[in-house]
Amino acid sequence: MSPVGKRPDGERIWTIVLAAGSGQRFGAMKQFETIGSRRLVDWSMDVAHSASDGVVLVVPAEMVGAEGAASGVVNGVVDRVVPDAVVAGGATRSESVRRGLAAVPGEATIVCVHDAARPFATHEDYRLVIDAVHGGADGAVPGVTPADTIKLVEEDGVVVSTLPRSALRAVATPQAFRAAVLRAAHTGSAEGTDDASLVEANGGRVIVVEGSAMNRKITTPEDMAWARAMQAREI
Ligand code: CTP
Ligand code: MG
Repeated sequence: MSPVGKRPDGERIWTIVLAAGSGQRFGAMKQFETIGSRRLVDWSMDVAHSASDGVVLVVPAEMVGAEGAASGVVNGVVDRVVPDAVVAGGATRSESVRRGLAAVPGEATIVCVHDAARPFATHEDYRLVIDAVHGGADGAVPGVTPADTIKLVEEDGVVVSTLPRSALRAVATPQAFRAAVLRAAHTGSAEGTDDASLVEANGGRVIVVEGSAMNRKITTPEDMAWARAMQAREI
């Protein structure tokens, strides 16, 4: 995909955009809230589309009809990206990924998974993970070294040890995978907070590439306030 827009030769890239969560910590379905004039899911779809040959959008079951019917054209102008397929999510993130994966065609050689709740992922974030998988990794994820000191603790809060910060990475999405590897990791009903952990558990080789602090996940109202302030500053 380098230069920008060009994808690696011989690869067919499909991306699953996950937008089927209930937003318990935020207090609403945050993925349908707006930053500027666009919803979080639209920000995420836009970049996913620019980096992929096809995009599957996973939404709550009751929204499949509305999202699938939308043309993306408002007053004769293309307002937003329309997914190639819209499917209903499941009770957990991993289940939503499995449902999205079922709608990804067999032609896909690399599959990316992205949280709609990360509106500021960039084309470069996709390029780095896709290039790493094209280069031979089973999976690749963007990561940053945490700013905080991280401690391993027991249930009661007693510290077991202090982990060496230089060896730690806080990871985000988009995560890219060799398609067959991701499908194999999701064959059963495995659960994890990301897809790389399932691939790792299956013995896959996952590489961490350089992530960005801007690619923050919107989890709480404070995160949303940060995102809106960042976007307003960019204008
Ligand atoms: N997600 C999903 N299906 C689920 C759960 C989560 O598609 N059953 C998606 C969310 O929409 C989000 C991403 O996975 O884009 C990351 O999840 P998270 O930030 O935890 O969102 P929610 O699960 O909606 O929030 P919470 O955990 O606070 O309820
Ligand atoms: Mg969640």
